[in-house]
Formats: sequence, structure tokens, C-alpha cells
Amino acid sequence: MDHFRLAAPLYDAIFGRPGVDWWKQALKLPVTGWVLDVGGGTGRVSAILPELTGGVAVCDVSRPMLVRTRGKSGIRAVQAPAETLPFPDAVFDRALVVDALHHFQDQPRAVMELARVLKPGGRLVVEEPDVGLTAVKAVALLERLALMGSRFHRPDAIAAMMEAAGLSARIERRAQFRAWISGVKGDGVKSFSDGG
Ligand SMILES: C[S@@+](CC[C@H](N)C(=O)[O-])C[C@H]1O[C@@H](n2cnc3c(N)ncnc32)[C@H](O)[C@@H]1O
Repeated sequence: MDHFRLAAPLYDAIFGRPGVDWWKQALKLPVTGWVLDVGGGTGRVSAILPELTGGVAVCDVSRPMLVRTRGKSGIRAVQAPAETLPFPDAVFDRALVVDALHHFQDQPRAVMELARVLKPGGRLVVEEPDVGLTAVKAVALLERLALMGSRFHRPDAIAAMMEAAGLSARIERRAQFRAWISGVKGDGVKSFSDGG
């Protein structure tokens, strides 16, 4: 069942345009390469990215959400699950997941996939509701009652998931009931101090 089918037509109006300055800082933009927005829905967040990047792909399982990317210039829509991304290894300079990780069925696998498709030196930023806060715990309960299958993780657990996928993770910011966690893919070049 697609819980976002009904929300799709109103989604952008309800959640609004994201802050350009924050996303420039969080994703370290501009870049010349491509950016991947997984669970990107209507392209609400990605709509601010084309002029700061070489291209933007929005990947989502919900067709009604993806249809709403139409009319947002510079965005390619791809219908696919986060757990099996239909892209070759190391093709994206940046990736983001906004308010979507808790919906993914297999979150560690999705993070592994995101790490796989990032280029060496590439950066992933995950924005999630901060479930350490009581108000967010209430939302998590409501989503469970609505049988949305959501599973929220605390920011440090998301950082651990990224580390397990081979990214260097860090909690960048906690504000407005949300947390932003970044992960950077190593360049695979061993320095002399690596001891080998
Ligand atoms: C709350 S919406 C967020 C949309 C967008 N990131 C935003 O902030 O505007 C969550 C999105 O995750 C998508 N989603 C859920 N499970 C998914 C999965 N396994 N793979 C890809 N997308 C998924 C939903 O279809 C929905 O569009």
C-alpha cells in the first residue's frame, strides 16, 4: 500500500521549500557532478539543486509522488527502492535522504547502497526526525498506529549505520525536531600513516 498516494498532490504545499543556504552547506555545494535524492518523493528538496550541481536524480518507490517532479526542471525521476538502487558503483558526487529513511524497509541495506553509488570523496546527508525528542516519539507512535511500517532511529544509530557502510559519519546539526547526519566516502587511497 502506498501511503503517499493521497498526500502527493498536497505534499509540496504542506512541507514547503527547504532552506537553500543550509543544503549548500550540508552537501558542500556547488559540485559539477550528479546528486541522488533517495526517497525524494515529489522532488520538493531536489528542486533547489539543479543550479548547484551537474544533474539531479530523484529515486522513490511511489509513482504518485514521482509524478509531481514533472515541471521541476533539471530533475530525472527514477522509480526504484532504496534497497536496490538501479545505478552503477561510484557515479554520484552527493546523495541525500530527507525524512524518508524511517520508511525504508531495510535501512542498513539502503545506506550500503547509497555508499556504493557515491564516488570516492562523495558525501551523503540524511535528515531525519530526531526520535530522541518526546514530540517525535509521539509522531513515531502515530505512524505505527497508521500501519506505515516506519522505524525511526536516533541520530547516533544512523551515524553507526553509515560507519558500517564504510562512510565517515558525523551528526552535523540538531534543530527543529530534526537531525542531519553526514557520511563521507573515503577516497580509498591509503596514506603512509595507515601502516600498509
Ligand atoms: C515523507 S516522504 C519524503 C519525501 C521527500 N524526501 C521530501 O522531504 O519532500 C518519504 C518518501 O519515501 C519514499 N519511500 C518509502 N520507502 C521507500 C523505499 N524503500 N525506497 C525509496 N523510497 C521510499 C516514499 O514513497 C515517500 O515519497
